[in-house]
Amino acid sequence: MSSSNAPRLIVALDVERLADAVALVDRLEPLGVIFKVGLESLLGYGEAIRARLQETGASSFIDAKLHDIPRTVAAATRAIVASGVRIVTVHAIGGNEMMQAAVETADERAAELGIDPPKIFAVTILTSIAPEELNELGLRGGPGENVMRLAALARDARCAGVVCSPHEVRDLKRYFGAGFEAICPGIRPLGSAHGDQKRVATPRDAVEAGADYIVVGRPITEAPDPLAAARAVLAEIEAAGVHGAL
Ligand code: C5P
Repeated sequence: MSSSNAPRLIVALDVERLADAVALVDRLEPLGVIFKVGLESLLGYGEAIRARLQETGASSFIDAKLHDIPRTVAAATRAIVASGVRIVTVHAIGGNEMMQAAVETADERAAELGIDPPKIFAVTILTSIAPEELNELGLRGGPGENVMRLAALARDARCAGVVCSPHEVRDLKRYFGAGFEAICPGIRPLGSAHGDQKRVATPRDAVEAGADYIVVGRPITEAPDPLAAARAVLAEIEAAGVHGAL
């Protein structure tokens, strides 16, 4: 990456076995990517992969999707903060006080440890929720309206940004400005299988729309050569950064 403001690649370590996750970290760490530890790896072998990431000095994203009472979320955040942990997620639907508890605890714990605090990002509406399900949940309006309302809550709670679809980034940046960051999953390099992702975008499209981070899982982790696949995505990010209409 040419500068610290350049969009970053996050590789999702969504694999069942610790050995496979460790192999991916060892192969891809020299590229300076951020590794996403999601619920599958956190609950399956969280302690071991977190220790390994710390040992290698890699950057990590603990996708814990915290949603509980503020005290519990603060305690969980305290347990997550460690050197190299750059990003932690909470659910915006947990409310302002809960998100603030995560942000404040991350800052406090990092100061105690003498390290940079992780950024707290909020998950708004899961992309797996269909529009009609929003009403079942008692949420008025369509997905776009709900995403923007929850993003406003997250900004007020001093979260660094939100996790959103590449298709929502332009609106998000228009409402909240360039400084409110966007992490975008649902990325498929040209020619790769979509899997269960429905509304996908290429790395280039996502970066040109304003994504600050893109999350790529299977197109890299299931590629015959994950290192080559990750390099190709990085090249696409770089090309979009140079030529894109940001
Ligand atoms: O393999 P794939 O590239 O689809 O992985 C995308 C990653 O982003 C997965 O870890 C998935 O859980 C996560 N994610 C997503 N859509 C969301 C939120 C997170 O695909 N709305």
